[in-house]
Amino acid sequence: MEKLHIIGGNKLEGEVKTSGAKNGVLPAMAVALLTPGIFTIENVPLLNDIKMMAHLLRIIGARVDYSSDLLQIDSNNCSYFEAPYELVSKMRASIYVLSPLLVRFGKAKVSLPGGCAIGARPIDLHLKALQKMGVEIKIEHGYINACCPKLRGADIFFDKSSVGATITVLMAAVRAEGVTNIVNAAIEPEVTYAIDLLLDMGANIEGKGTTNLKVIGVDKLKPVKTSVLPDRIEAGTFLIAGAVTCGNVMVKQCVPEHLKSLTEKLQDIGCDVLQGDDYIKVNLDKRPKSTDITTKPYPGFPTDLQAQFLALMAIADGTSLIEDTIFPERFHHVPELNRLHADIVLDDNRAIVKGVDKLSSAPIMATDLRASAALVIAGLAAEGVTVVSRIYHLDRGYDIMEKKLQQLGAEIHRSV
Ligand code: UD1
Repeated sequence: MEKLHIIGGNKLEGEVKTSGAKNGVLPAMAVALLTPGIFTIENVPLLNDIKMMAHLLRIIGARVDYSSDLLQIDSNNCSYFEAPYELVSKMRASIYVLSPLLVRFGKAKVSLPGGCAIGARPIDLHLKALQKMGVEIKIEHGYINACCPKLRGADIFFDKSSVGATITVLMAAVRAEGVTNIVNAAIEPEVTYAIDLLLDMGANIEGKGTTNLKVIGVDKLKPVKTSVLPDRIEAGTFLIAGAVTCGNVMVKQCVPEHLKSLTEKLQDIGCDVLQGDDYIKVNLDKRPKSTDITTKPYPGFPTDLQAQFLALMAIADGTSLIEDTIFPERFHHVPELNRLHADIVLDDNRAIVKGVDKLSSAPIMATDLRASAALVIAGLAAEGVTVVSRIYHLDRGYDIMEKKLQQLGAEIHRSV
């Protein structure tokens, strides 16, 4: 099993480019199933989650080709309407194929996603909304059996903001008969990107960027070429990595607007933050001060940066409260960070982080994607050689992270 070896203590300095957003590519790949044709997706990092989604699309009958950062999806010959357990259990975003299969075939069989390392992740909002749109859903033998000869528009009220459920409804609504109103839609940049993509394809959607969306179903969509938005979580991870080493890091090709909640916090802890149209530069020349964070739906602080920021607070001057309101159990990185001599206590969905002067290396284990990034960040600041195992989690969502860190001066390498 592959591991990362990190010799901590180097200041990170220099520039790094942001890759395309995994959480933008995955729904875009599902969108490509909505109508027969050849889709091109640009700026695609070759991540394991994306390879897995490509595998699922191939099972459904699409041709998927990848070269450099270009993904081509030929969905002309899709004929199979099932997403098997083996794939859905490994990658929850597989649920995104449910609506396109219903649009294409009037039926779909998609495995229930099951448990997840970051806690309970129900899909009730997806299913309830589709039922309102006329879909008959039966849960049988661990599978969602959905059937709907004709989708119809409906009034959907989400009592919780959900990225996935909003995109599921959008994909169904664009081809449904009549009007769908979505109240309390998620407004994460990845949702806005999905709306832009659907609009390009000929969909009729009003209210982009707001929590109230109106979708007027159309008879036809067309395949398009799209370029994926920059990965705000990857960009944020490198900014935090810069700060934890008291370094000077410029993250290029990102959208600073998407990272406001993070850059404000970086300023609070003492960083100089410089921003341009498509870059953010962070510079810290002393130990960071502590600050509290509470994760919230966009534009609030993203749950996908909670673990990384917590690792930074582990060496801050003072005590921080880190609260996750989106995934309250998402704290598996805490016991691992404590192995590095961090001082963190868990209290329900909050971590109380007493900053320590120094972290000290130890063998540690990644448990999920963003927790892995947090462990790497901690390793960059720890004294000695930190060995992070189970880094396949990291490869699900980061584009050759260690190469980019090496470029910034980190001593990090992979072993098998
Ligand atoms: C997406 C992101 C994930 C990120 C999360 C929150 C992708 C592929 N994944 O996940 O990286 O951490 O947004 O920003 O884009 N919920 C329900 N019922 C549902 C659906 C969600 O109760 O049917 C709850 C969840 O448990 C959670 C909250 O809603 O508490 C938000 O989850 P959601 O936005 O749906 O997350 P995902 O779309 O799965």
